[in-house]
Amino acid sequence: MRLMSLLDRLKAQIAHDGPIGVPEFFTRCLHDPRDGYYAMRPDLGAGGDFITAPLVSQMFGELIGLWAVETWTRMGRPSPFRLVEMGPGDGTLISDLLRAGRLEPAFLAAAEVWLVEVSEPLRAKQAARLGEGPRWVGRLDEVPAGAPMILVANELLDCLPARQFVRTEGGWAERVIGLGEDGELAFGLRGLGKSAGAEITPIPNPSPIEGEGSIGQIYESSPAQAALASDIAHRLVTDGGAALLIDYGRDAPEAGDTLQALRNHAKVDPLKTAGLADLTVWADFPSVVAAAREAGVKAGPILTQGEFLRALGIEQRAQALSTARPDRADQIGRQLDRLVGEAQMGALFKVACLAAPDLSPPLFEDAT
Ligand SMILES: C[S@@+](CC[C@H](N)C(=O)[O-])C[C@H]1O[C@@H](n2cnc3c(N)ncnc32)[C@H](O)[C@@H]1O
Repeated sequence: MRLMSLLDRLKAQIAHDGPIGVPEFFTRCLHDPRDGYYAMRPDLGAGGDFITAPLVSQMFGELIGLWAVETWTRMGRPSPFRLVEMGPGDGTLISDLLRAGRLEPAFLAAAEVWLVEVSEPLRAKQAARLGEGPRWVGRLDEVPAGAPMILVANELLDCLPARQFVRTEGGWAERVIGLGEDGELAFGLRGLGKSAGAEITPIPNPSPIEGEGSIGQIYESSPAQAALASDIAHRLVTDGGAALLIDYGRDAPEAGDTLQALRNHAKVDPLKTAGLADLTVWADFPSVVAAAREAGVKAGPILTQGEFLRALGIEQRAQALSTARPDRADQIGRQLDRLVGEAQMGALFKVACLAAPDLSPPLFEDAT
């Protein structure tokens, strides 16, 4: 018997129960236990579906390692402390970070490495790369409290779903996924689904952006991203430490539909590729920073990845690597440009730091 695909199961569910919100669709596509992208077939890297900064160059993880050592020093060199990575992918970032940490053996000796990962295939890759050292959990609250923490997460916020709202003639409505005339998945508005009559029930303006917006404008809001920031912040208030969140996203409130599915490095239709492609939305850094402050930590300023890596000395590091390996100088130059170039990852990617009230991590001394 042929098992139903995730797409067919979603269609059957919607036909039976009515349209679903974008967050439910997003979460099923990524984490459905039988067919979700991260549950079954995550494929990172040049030969996979998408590439991330640590996979572009070892310089990324190494510089974050230096940032972590300096942060630990400013925390008063606690031992032990929890060195946590959320969403470690194939383990490249943490392995580069730990290699840079060898410069300060006491840092490595004090670090208890915890990896927060929901994807079984990726846990297996991380274990193959990192061996016995780290401990794995599925949720941040499973990392034991009672010691300070330095947390790093690169491209995790973009895996957490956003609700989408659309400005219509009749007011704001939530964007949902239902069935079109042809029986395929189609975007609709809450209240306009096939099974739900023709009335849109307007909702209060969800957008902090000035004015009501033009008809058709989409505004996104991610309670899941804000909740993660709040959870991290509560931990930092109780136990001390800092968290570095890096992702592509906005640093000021902005309208727009950022839901994107990627397969083999190409954009594909999210409604046709359920579970077969990576699905992301932009990180909403203003909400993340606001939720963290609300929970009692210092947060911000929101830097671009280019500003952050340059301030940590990536250009000098690239120069040193090129001097050691002149045959690779061109490649290292291209990697540097990819990470910090304005037209590449340097401007679109942002970095925010959350810090316990008594701590001033490097580059984020102005946090409020
Ligand atoms: C886009 S990948 C980034 C991987 C890695 N940080 C890098 O930069 O190469 C997203 C990572 O977050 C994990 N992930 C996705 N949703 C998650 C969740 N809700 N909780 C914890 N990890 C999650 C994925 O399994 C994967 O390891």
